[in-house]
Amino acid sequence: MLQDKFGRRFHYLRLSITDVCNFSCEYCLPDGYQCDTDRDFLSLEEITHIASAFAQLGTSKIRITGGEPSLRKDLPQVIQACANTQGIKHVAMTTNGYKLPDHIDSWVEAGLTSMNISIDSLDPRMFASITGHDKLDVILRGIDRAIELGITVKVNAVLMRHFNQGELKTFLNWLKTTPLTLRFIELMQTGDNQLFFDKNHTSGQPIKDQLIADGWQQIVRDKTAGPAQEFSHPDYQGRIGLIMPYSKDFCATCNRLRISALGKLHLCLFSDQGLDIRQFIADGDTQRLQDELSTLLGDKKSTHFLHDGYTGATKHLAMLGG
Ligand code: 5AD
Ligand code: SF4
Repeated sequence: MLQDKFGRRFHYLRLSITDVCNFSCEYCLPDGYQCDTDRDFLSLEEITHIASAFAQLGTSKIRITGGEPSLRKDLPQVIQACANTQGIKHVAMTTNGYKLPDHIDSWVEAGLTSMNISIDSLDPRMFASITGHDKLDVILRGIDRAIELGITVKVNAVLMRHFNQGELKTFLNWLKTTPLTLRFIELMQTGDNQLFFDKNHTSGQPIKDQLIADGWQQIVRDKTAGPAQEFSHPDYQGRIGLIMPYSKDFCATCNRLRISALGKLHLCLFSDQGLDIRQFIADGDTQRLQDELSTLLGDKKSTHFLHDGYTGATKHLAMLGG
């Protein structure tokens, strides 16, 4: 089992398969995707090798991320490769959702078990102004289909003072009849979004206080569940959660490692640098890759240093899929 010196265990891998994205979310890629790498992304064969090396070390869940993973034509094969790996029980994906209605059936057929979709506003005009795409209705249609197909659906909304701060009521109304989990994520500072962050960062605590006052009950989750706090309410089919990376002890429950689309291991979303393990991935020697992973894990720090404004090498989350 992959374990660090603070006793945290890593059964969850976030694997980016492309850093290209077609959206231009204000906090991430406000000017759209700029091609500044050679786009030599991990091949299907390399992804298969990563999945089996991690699975043998105790990883049971892989989340496919980007950029926008659905921009890869071989996405169904990627899902299938992960799902077919012995030991991998959950294959999740994070997507902006714009291809959902056309592709969700084939992804589920390939073995996808859960999906996170970003919706920062339920007002179509606000949604378009945040993402650069007037696609809210398409995404909502895709979500309905995903629920119909029986996979677990979560929606992420990044909290932004000047964009969606007043929308709690609208989101709650939606959750009355929609069986999914909505998570508000506190806006995180990255290398590229300093000004936007300073203007828009706002704490999730007032929302948490409001929910508790309205009778939402915090769900007790097991120790391996990761850093989201989730709440349920008897009058609502959906659940609501908060991801508060600026809160105390956020990193104590860290259960995940990340690999970028170029084959770098990121011990934290905000590490100084990605650790280049591409050669160990590419040459197919599983034992060597596993030895390397175990050694590198020795350097994982106890926490991020976001409170000091230190964002490491992370220019934006499209590099690593959050
Ligand atoms: N702060 C918080 N969340 C972010 N995401 C992307 N960039 C940021 C940021 N700076 C979210 C996306 C998506 C998930 C992968 O991360 O909205 O839901
Ligand atoms: Fe694309 Fe996601 Fe970044 Fe939005 S947050 S620009 S959808 S990678």
